[in-house]
Amino acid sequence: MTFPQGNGSSARPTDPKQIAIVGTGYVGLVTGACFAELGHYVLCLDNDARKIGTLRLGELPFFEPQLHELVLHNRQAGRLNFSDDVASGLRDNPIVFIAVGTPILPNDGVDLSQVCDVAATIGRELNGPKLVVVKSTVPMETGEMVAAIIAENAPHPYNVEVAANPEFLREGSAVDDFMRPDRVVIGTRSEGARRTLQALYEPLEAPIVCTDVRTAEMIKYTANSFLATKISFMNEVANICELFNVDVKDVAHGIGLDQRIGTRFMQPGLGYGGSCFPKDVRGLERTADGRGYDAQLIRAVESVNQAQVVRTYHKIERALGSVEGRRVCVLGLAFKPDTSDVREAPALRLIEMLTAAGATVTAHDPIAIEVARANTGDGVKYSSDIYEAISGCDVLVLATEWEEYAGIDFQLLRRLMRSNVVVDGRNLFDPEKVAAEGLRYIGVGRQREPVALPELDEGMIPI
Ligand SMILES: NC(=O)c1ccc[n+]([C@@H]2O[C@H](COP(=O)([O-])OP(=O)(O)OC[C@H]3O[C@@H](n4cnc5c(N)ncnc54)[C@H](O)[C@@H]3O)[C@@H](O)[C@H]2O)c1
Repeated sequence: MTFPQGNGSSARPTDPKQIAIVGTGYVGLVTGACFAELGHYVLCLDNDARKIGTLRLGELPFFEPQLHELVLHNRQAGRLNFSDDVASGLRDNPIVFIAVGTPILPNDGVDLSQVCDVAATIGRELNGPKLVVVKSTVPMETGEMVAAIIAENAPHPYNVEVAANPEFLREGSAVDDFMRPDRVVIGTRSEGARRTLQALYEPLEAPIVCTDVRTAEMIKYTANSFLATKISFMNEVANICELFNVDVKDVAHGIGLDQRIGTRFMQPGLGYGGSCFPKDVRGLERTADGRGYDAQLIRAVESVNQAQVVRTYHKIERALGSVEGRRVCVLGLAFKPDTSDVREAPALRLIEMLTAAGATVTAHDPIAIEVARANTGDGVKYSSDIYEAISGCDVLVLATEWEEYAGIDFQLLRRLMRSNVVVDGRNLFDPEKVAAEGLRYIGVGRQREPVALPELDEGMIPI
């Protein structure tokens, strides 16, 4: 089995490297499996012994397309191993990637405790020169901090270089994103480290952007904040469209053809979620604030995003009069399709608001039900069957645009629902098809009703 990278070449490197990856979550596991696929010897380390146990049994701790096959294939080939003995794994490998979590603190600052913990262990276990590569998303100057922690803990002053190599993969298409990246960003101090990292990524035949460490760190925060800005911008535009009976899809098309703007990432909806955008937007704003800069635009991106779920809740409330005692079906729980990740998922926030207001919620998701169940109270009923979830509900809310929801049978839906409101939180459905079945369609920034054009006054020229 081969997973084509770059132009499809699957040649093994002439100089395979020994790589340790600390943190075997989404990023660490995908990175480890992909480097192994490129021919390197990878040891994935994690201090979560259960996670390592699961992986050793040949199972994945989360769902990600293509990843299972890639992991099994490279384990069989002897290039991919797993261990919870982080200290010895660090001693045995000259190249170490740090891919641990960098969550948000209650004050919106970035929690770097996992990164610092790994840096201290690297220092304590240092037994020779090492290239330490920070792949986790971290604020500017973290590379310097990691180098200082390693030096403080090191028994001998071995030559250690700390580089930055932020990751841009998306959950749901992570393997493909890693193997066919738009670009790779490498931030180093020395030529030697740059050459080593460039050689690792060369088979992917992607543009490699080489910078210093701080710039690489800033590139990642900027990329995520910019993408989040596009989402919040289009949400704001959609909200304005609703006030004037204008369809935001036409607006997005009309502006997207301008090559300076582009058509991608222009869909309004319930807002962004997941483990990256929310924390990275807040993280950049806080980091700037720490240096006395008030990043107003970036702060607004987050508040527009937060408001979008509240706005959707109010749309449901307005349509039903009150949500108390009403039955709401929520389709989609994951923060986006093709992942089981529900971290900061807008669907869960909406469910929380609905149940707090006395609604009964029934929810469906193709793969995220179990993870969601662990994150919600007992007030939610889950169903693995779409139509069972819909049965008897007053309002259907589409919260995640899974492909299978696009094929919903609206005729059957109409028969199964107690009332007739369809809130399309991702603009997935065709409003006319929904309305044709006697259902009331409410989208995000979609035209509510045909606009009555004013009569032409005498003498006015129609254009
Ligand atoms: N998930 C994504 O889509 C994505 C994309 C790009 C970048 N990132 C960034 O990559 C980093 C990792 O994200 P993730 O989603 O893979 O996180 P994750 O929570 O899925 O995985 C982190 C792993 O690190 C392990 N860990 C924590 N402390 C450890 C320690 N001291 N020693 C060994 N293992 C330890 C945890 O047990 C966990 O398995 C974050 O900075 C994130 O912002 C994530």
